[in-house]
Amino acid sequence: MPAASPSSVAVNTASQVFDVRPFEGKVGAEIVGLDLSTPLNDADFARVHQAHLDYHVVVFRNQQITPQQQIDFSRRFGILQIHVLKQFLLANHPEILIVSNIVENGQPVGLGDAGKYWHSDLSYKELPSLGSMLHAQELPSEGGDTLFANLHLAWDTLPQALRDAVEGRSAVHSYTARYSEGKNAASWRPTLTAEQLAQVAEVTHPVVRTHPETGRKALFVSEGFTTRIVGLPDDESRALLDQLYAHSVRPEHVYRHQWQPHDLVFWDNRSLIHLAAGCPPELRRKLLRTTIQGDAPF
Ligand code: OGA
Ligand code: MN
Repeated sequence: MPAASPSSVAVNTASQVFDVRPFEGKVGAEIVGLDLSTPLNDADFARVHQAHLDYHVVVFRNQQITPQQQIDFSRRFGILQIHVLKQFLLANHPEILIVSNIVENGQPVGLGDAGKYWHSDLSYKELPSLGSMLHAQELPSEGGDTLFANLHLAWDTLPQALRDAVEGRSAVHSYTARYSEGKNAASWRPTLTAEQLAQVAEVTHPVVRTHPETGRKALFVSEGFTTRIVGLPDDESRALLDQLYAHSVRPEHVYRHQWQPHDLVFWDNRSLIHLAAGCPPELRRKLLRTTIQGDAPF
């Protein structure tokens, strides 16, 4: 398969007038005035791409776009990954994973407990995700926020003793380690078939990775998928990971996204980990996710 290259559909639309407005904290920006229902020309695309690299999570408010338009925009950044849980893919659009707590006729319509632990999407794959986009469809009247933690900052501010302990090491990432944890796991987490299990065999990645586009270093471990640091006794590995996790999500590293109708949020899985804060189970929440494939971490 060729390397992920942005799709080169000729786009000759006029430039749009829009601003990139960084949030007050150290992660995230809002892109104001851009309409994603029109294909972006190359200059506008380049600005969005740069904002994504600079701020790691970009928020586009009130985007009235179809699933196909979300897919088309996502494909500008690379090839799309199809989630292993086929039952939660949107009909006729397997590039879209339905993230939802809604149950209809006794059947969950989507993955109901996506992101209940801090994680980087698909870090359990040889080629983890470059970035993911969530487009809000239905939002609860309370709760349902998504938190993003900046793992470049986590690395930059990591105490020297911890840096020395992890630099040059690798860690194991596993999809199945915490797969069935949680009270509603039975409905969202069907038993995986042998074929699905083969798609999510454990992998190892460096604990500290270099962002392939910016050259910045970031921690690349998370409570969701990282199970152990290679070459350390279990207790040392556990203690070290717990310190890394606690440091990663210090409040000053975190942006908390409060969803509004039709928000589209696009984050960089090479720079951030994220977490679903959760909402009362009786309130309906539904978002559509596209996931862009990245490079092998180094
Ligand atoms: C995801 C995810 C978090 C949320 O879709 O990748 O982690 O708040 N979602 O829904
Ligand atoms: Mn996720």
